[in-house]
Amino acid sequence: MHIAFVASECVPYSKTGGLADVVGALPRALASLGHQVSVYLPRYRQTKLADAETVVHSITVPFDDKYRFCSVATAGTSAGVKFYFVDYPSYFDREALYGTSAADYPDNAERFALFSRAVLEASKILGVPHVFHCHDWQSALVPVMLRTLYAEDPAFREVGTVFTIHNMGYQGLFPPDILPLLMLPWDLLTMSKMEFFGQVNFLKGALVFSDFVTTVSKKYSQEIQTTEYGFGLEGVLRNRAATVTGILNGVDYDEWSPQTDKFSVAKYLPQDLSGKLKCKQDLLNAFGVTNADPKVPVIGIVSRFAAQKGFDLIAQIMDRLAREEMIMVVLGTGDKPYEDMFVRLNKQFPNKIAIKVAYDNAIAHKIEAGADMFLMPSRYEPCGLNQIYSLKYGTVPIVRATGGLDDTIEPWDARTGKGTGFKFTEYTGEALLATVKQALLAYRDQSSWQTLMRNGMGRDFSWGASAREYGKVYERVRQLRASENVVRTAELKKEPVAG
Ligand code: ADP
Ligand code: GLC
Repeated sequence: MHIAFVASECVPYSKTGGLADVVGALPRALASLGHQVSVYLPRYRQTKLADAETVVHSITVPFDDKYRFCSVATAGTSAGVKFYFVDYPSYFDREALYGTSAADYPDNAERFALFSRAVLEASKILGVPHVFHCHDWQSALVPVMLRTLYAEDPAFREVGTVFTIHNMGYQGLFPPDILPLLMLPWDLLTMSKMEFFGQVNFLKGALVFSDFVTTVSKKYSQEIQTTEYGFGLEGVLRNRAATVTGILNGVDYDEWSPQTDKFSVAKYLPQDLSGKLKCKQDLLNAFGVTNADPKVPVIGIVSRFAAQKGFDLIAQIMDRLAREEMIMVVLGTGDKPYEDMFVRLNKQFPNKIAIKVAYDNAIAHKIEAGADMFLMPSRYEPCGLNQIYSLKYGTVPIVRATGGLDDTIEPWDARTGKGTGFKFTEYTGEALLATVKQALLAYRDQSSWQTLMRNGMGRDFSWGASAREYGKVYERVRQLRASENVVRTAELKKEPVAG
C-alpha cells in the first residue's frame, strides 16, 4: 500500500519533541513491511538537505488576499522512504518551528494551511497515496480539505485518511475569519465541524473528517475520551469511539541504545554494566558537577518545558528532596516560567540540582546513559519516549501513571524481583516525593537494583509490532472508503425522480 505521511517534524530534518522521533522511525518500519511510504514535511531553516532537488517548481495555493506559490524539493529515498519538503521561505525559513518561548508565530494557521494544501496538490504530481497519514493539528487540514474543497476531485476519490493525535493539548485554535482567508467554506464554523467556543479548531476538524483516528498509547486513547484529559474534545472522540484506537509508539534502537550510542564515552550491555559508571562521570562533568561521590544516585530529566510535564510538582517538594542523597540533572527548553523555575532551584540548591537550558541531542543521550534514574512526573503524557529510552539504558524511570507512561512502566516489586520502574498516580508533590524516596531507598541495595536495571534493558519496544498495527488500520480505512464509494456510485447512478 502507498502511505503518505504528512507531519510538521521528523528526525533528522526537524525536531522539537517526540513527534519527530516517531515520524523519523515509523515510515522506515512500514517500508520494511513492504509498504510504499512517502513523508511530506515543511522545509525549515533547521532542515539540512545534502542533495536537494526541486521536483515540483510551482504550486498555487489560493488565499483570499493573494495567491501564494510554493515548490517541493526532495531529499531522495532513505531506507525505502521518500522525503518531500514544501518550500516557502517566508513561512518556514525562520528561527524556530512554531514560535518563540514567549509566543507562537501569529501566522501559524496560514503556514500550516499552505503546507497542507501544497501536499495535496503535490501528491497529484508525485503520486496519490492510498492513505494520507496525518499527525497533530499542523496537518489537520489535509482530511478537512479532502472531504470539503476536494470532495469532487476524482484524483482523491479512493483516498483514505488516518489522523494520529500525539497531543490533545495543542489544537490549532484561530479566529473565525481565518476561514475566508484560507478560502475554506463558512459552514465549517458549526458545532458538528470545526467550531469550538466561537473559534476555528483545526484538530477538531481532523477528528471529524478523518476516516480513522489513532493516538500513541492505549491508556491515552481512553483518557482523551474523559473530561479530565480531553481538552474539550472528549465528546467528539466519544462520538466516534468505534474508529478511535491507541497504538503504542515504538522507539528507534539504532539511535537509542547503550551498546552503540555515539554520544557516550563508554558502551555497556546488560551482562556488563561497568561502562555506565564512566558515562555517569562524564555526565556530571558535562554539568560542571565535580567531586561528587559516584555512589550518590543521579536523577535525570530531558524535556520540553511545558505545563504538561508536571514540573510544578518538583518545585513543591524541592526543599525536602534536597535533604536526600541525590543529584538531579535537568536539560530542557520551552516556556519561560519553567526555565526560570529551574534556574531559581539551581541557585537555591546548587549541590542538588544542575540545569542546562538548551536543546542538545548529545547531552540528552549523555543523560540517558549516565543517570541512574529518569524522572517524568507528567500531568498527562500521550506516550512519552524518554522513559522507553531510559529502560534500554538501565536508567530506572520514575513516572506518573498516566498515558503511555502507565502503559510502558511496570512497578518494581523487590520481593518478586519483577518490574521496571516506579510509578505514582495522584498528581501531588507528596505522591511524587514518596515515590522518589522509594526509588532512592531501593538504589541502596545495589544487587537488587541491578536486577531492576536489567529487567528494563530486556524490554523490547521496537517498531515492528506497532507498524503491523498501523498496517491493519490502513487496511480498514481502505475497506471503509471502498464501501463508501460503492454507496456513492449507486447514488450517482440513481434515475432522477420524475415530477
Ligand atoms: P514530547 O514529544 O512531549 O516532548 P517525548 O518523550 O515523546 O515528549 O519526546 C521527547 C523527545 O525530544 C525525546 O527524543 C527527547 O530526547 C527530546 N528532547 C526533549 N527536550 C530536549 C532537549 N532540551 N534537548 C534535546 N532533546 C530533547
Ligand atoms: C507528543 C507527546 C508525547 C509523545 C510524542 C510522540 O509530543 O507529548 O507523549 O511521545 O508526541 O508521539
